[in-house]
Formats: sequence, structure tokens, C-alpha cells
Amino acid sequence: MKILLTGGAGYIGSHTAVALLEAGHDAAVVDNYSNSSPEAVRRAEQITGKEIRLYEADVADKNRMMEILRSEMPDCIIHFAGLKAVGESVAKPVEYYRNNIDTTLTLIECMKELGLSNIVFSSSATVYGEDNIPPFTENMPKGVCTNPYGWTKWMQEQILTDAWFASEKEVISWAKAHDGDAAASDSGRVRPRELSVVLLRYFNPVGAHESGMIGEDPQGIPNNLMPYISQVAVGRRDHLTVFGDDYDTPDGTCRRDYIHVMDLAEGHVKAAEYSLEHRGAEVFNLGTGNPYSVLDMVKAFGDACGHPVKYEIGPRRAGDVQDSWANADKAKEILGWEAKRGIAEICRDAWKWQSGNPNGYDR
Ligand code: NAD
Ligand code: WQD
Repeated sequence: MKILLTGGAGYIGSHTAVALLEAGHDAAVVDNYSNSSPEAVRRAEQITGKEIRLYEADVADKNRMMEILRSEMPDCIIHFAGLKAVGESVAKPVEYYRNNIDTTLTLIECMKELGLSNIVFSSSATVYGEDNIPPFTENMPKGVCTNPYGWTKWMQEQILTDAWFASEKEVISWAKAHDGDAAASDSGRVRPRELSVVLLRYFNPVGAHESGMIGEDPQGIPNNLMPYISQVAVGRRDHLTVFGDDYDTPDGTCRRDYIHVMDLAEGHVKAAEYSLEHRGAEVFNLGTGNPYSVLDMVKAFGDACGHPVKYEIGPRRAGDVQDSWANADKAKEILGWEAKRGIAEICRDAWKWQSGNPNGYDR
């Protein structure tokens, strides 16, 4: 398959490019490097020994995207491009809505005009909100998000689902207008095609490629647990602050479903393949189904790097849910995918990346 990855120079996109190439697919990347470096794509090429076509562009720029998509005509688009920092989204909501929603609307418009029909989207477990009780299943109602970033994912899911619904209706009325022959030509118009929309709800993607050549490279002070722990372990920061130890959990700290980024990447390979075979809008959790606490992760990282990771207990962080983990049965049943790596591999690979690249890609 020919696959185009928007935001493919980023953390999850670059690992997915490796997994796609390793599975024998062809990959092209579009990125504006607002939170990444082309170096990640070059390294993905080194890991696989294969070429990735790379376009520098803003996915919200419709003219440019029409040009790129017309020359690529991919079998599937995986839409990673987006802004993702929860705290920043509270301070800059309009920027987040503009970028995340616009990129999605632009892609749908371009796909329709070019007769492209398959899209896989990076959603998040954050859409389950605060009131659902884990393990989260895909048929639970979406919840109330605690920040603009979460709402952009919530809305992008809705926009893509509505676009699929309309595409199905359009195909049916086209078929009726052509006496049931959906394949009939209608000069000057692109024949409508029913979309295949695959919404992937990621839990907590962490770790790095086993080679240690690509990994997560946050700018400034990391917002997320694993990059913070990694930077403490490598000596870039003094200690981790654990956000609260008074939750109703066995050790008092929050629990999450940490998924190795290469497991996640392999889930995208299955999702892209599935998108070609099926029509409709389908949601899948990509998680392991196993919750671990903040202190579990601190301990596992210390085991991987050979020395304890220094931490202090601090107050709770606003907006944190106590527990979040997946029921991962649907992806196993329908996509034939399940996570294979555990927290020991996660910490081993994160440490290999961090210790080999203490300043990330040096952007
Ligand atoms: P990332 O920031 O590393 O990657 C996103 C990429 O998109 C970056 O390379 C950035 O430069 C690019 N980008 C942003 N806006 C763009 C635009 N308008 N045009 C072109 N490129 C643009 O983030 P990631 O962790 O790899 O996340 C990928 C996707 O998965 C995002 O949509 C994110 O919201 C989603 N997601 C991430 C997590 C996580 O914890 N990392 C969890 C759930 C969902
Ligand atoms: C994990 C746990 C913190 C940092 C976020 C987004 C979510 C999704 C994934 C994109 C929590 C604790 C953290 C620190 C800590 N992203 N922690 N000290 O909040 O589960 O999810 O990333 O879609 O939308 O909200 O991930 O890594 O920030 O936190 O104690 O310095 O680690 O309180 O319990 P989170 P995280």
C-alpha cells in the first residue's frame, strides 16, 4: 500500500513510518516541523534502508495539499498532524482549534475532490472523559473533556464520522441516479466513494524504537511522565515531581495504560490495511489493557537505567483522571493486533534513546 503520513516527522509518525516500511508498504510524509525535525525521517530511512518521500507543508494549506495528494494518490492517509500539549491548549485554545480542526477539514475536502477514500486518525483516550470507569470500551459514550486539546480530538472524531455518513448517502443516491450502477461514469465529476474512517484512541504512548535512533523529543520542560523521568535519569533534570499520592489506588498514584510506541506503530499498519478492506467509521482503542502507577514506572525506569530515579511527592495536577486504561479486545478481534511489549521493554528502549541522544535531535 501507498500511505501518506501527515505529521510523520513527529514522535508517533516517525515510528509508524518504520513499521510501515518494515511491513513492505510505501510511505510519504508531510510535516511543517512545528514540533519535529526532518532528522527523525532521515533516521527512519536509515533504520529501514528504504526511502521516504518528504514534503514540508502545512496540512491546513489546501492548495499545497491538493498538489501533494494529486502527485501521491495514496491508498490511505494516516493523519497524525496536530498540536498536542494539554497545558498549552488551555493557554492557546484558538490556535489548537484552528490547527487541529483545519488540518482535518482540509484533508477531507482534498480527499473528496481527488476520490481518495481511506483515512486513519490519531485520536486519544482523553475522549472518554472523567465519568467513564476503566477499562474503557469503544462503545462507551464519549465524555466531557477537561481541556481544548481533548475537545479537538472529540470534534475531529465527530467531523470524520459525519463525513463518512454523508459519503455513504452520496454513494447510494449516485447509484440510484445511475439505475443502480454505482460505477457509471458522469463526465466531469469524480464518482463519490464511501469513506473508510478508522479512529484510533491511543492510551499513553511511550518508549522508543529498539535501535535507540528515534524517540520522543519534547521541546522545553516535558509535560508527560516518561520523557520527564528519562531526563532525570540522564541528569538533565534534578528530580521528578509525582503529581499526588493520595488517589484511591494501591500506592496512591494515578494509573495509566502505557503502550510501547512500536506496538502502537504496528497497530497503525493493521489499521491502514483494514481501511482498504472496509467501509464505515470504526473506533479502536490502542492500549495494552494493563494499568501501571506513576511509582511503578519510576521503579521500572530505575531498573532499566541501573540507578534509582530521584522523585518527590507534590500536589495533584489539575485535570488528571485517577485511572485510565483500555479494554483492548476489539483491536485484537478485528485488526488482529495486540501489544507485545511490556514496561521493561518500554523503559529499556526509552533509556537507549535518551542516553544515546541526551539532547534529542538537537533542533
Ligand atoms: P508530535 O508533536 O511529535 O507529532 C505531530 C506532528 O505534526 C509534528 O511533527 C508536527 O510538526 C506536525 N504538525 C502539527 N501541525 C501541523 C500542520 N498544520 N501541518 C503539518 N504538520 C503539522 O506528536 P505525537 O506524539 O507524534 O502525536 C501524533 C498525533 O497523535 C497527534 O495528533 C496527537 O494529538 C495524537 N496523540 C498523541 C498522544 C501522545 O501521548 N503522544 C496520545 C494520543 C493522541
Ligand atoms: C501520566 C501520569 C500524571 C508528569 C496525556 C494527555 C492525553 C494523551 C497522553 C494526547 C499522570 C503523572 C506526569 C510528571 C507526574 N495525549 N505525572 N509527574 O496525563 O495520562 O495523558 O498524554 O492525546 O491526552 O492528557 O499523561 O504522561 O502527562 O501523565 O506525576 O511530571 O504521570 O499525573 O498520572 P496523561 P502524562
